[in-house]
Amino acid sequence: ARLAVLASGRGSNLAALLEAFPGQVAVVISNKRDAPALERARAAGIEALHVPWPPGGARDFEAAVETLLSSRQVTLVLLAGFMRLLSPGFTRAWHGRILNIHPSLLPAFPGLHAHAQALNAGAAFTGCSVHFVDAGCDTGEVILQKRVPVQAGDTEETLSRRLLPAEHEAYPQAVRLVLRGLAFPRPQPGEIEAEFG
Ligand code: GRF
Repeated sequence: ARLAVLASGRGSNLAALLEAFPGQVAVVISNKRDAPALERARAAGIEALHVPWPPGGARDFEAAVETLLSSRQVTLVLLAGFMRLLSPGFTRAWHGRILNIHPSLLPAFPGLHAHAQALNAGAAFTGCSVHFVDAGCDTGEVILQKRVPVQAGDTEETLSRRLLPAEHEAYPQAVRLVLRGLAFPRPQPGEIEAEFG
């Protein structure tokens, strides 16, 4: 497979993906010039590119990314701590071929500060979800989840430290399911009719 990873931050999930899919990550793209994720990619000898997110919104970013993805013959896009919402046009074009990881058991606690949301809700456990990306915020169909306990006295810090290893296992496992054709989203309207003529 030819994978692209989009990351805005630290890049620990990127590191797990690089380890699990050696030679298959074609390009790493970040909207943040100084993202540690870009550094990690470069250190691993992977093409790492900054594409700015213009103040006007997603359109110019997505056009630039689309050009990069097609010239690198990317077949699967993996969001890993990519902190922006992609537009419906982009997510439809990549339907079933774009994944994200989120640090909660979706549909619980979508969006920002998922660990804090779990703690504030008094959850006894939380986890992570790898899911197909649609135009909503963490709303796409779930591929795979892993559960971790919340412990008394947990803070965002301790909880995220316990959860992160589960994320690093879950993401490559989910990617394998998709690459093997064992996980796929519900068809979009018209998709089946189009395939069967
Ligand atoms: C992870 O917790 C991931 O679930 C969330 O953003 C964080 C990214 O961490 N979407 P990293 O940059 O992969 O270390």
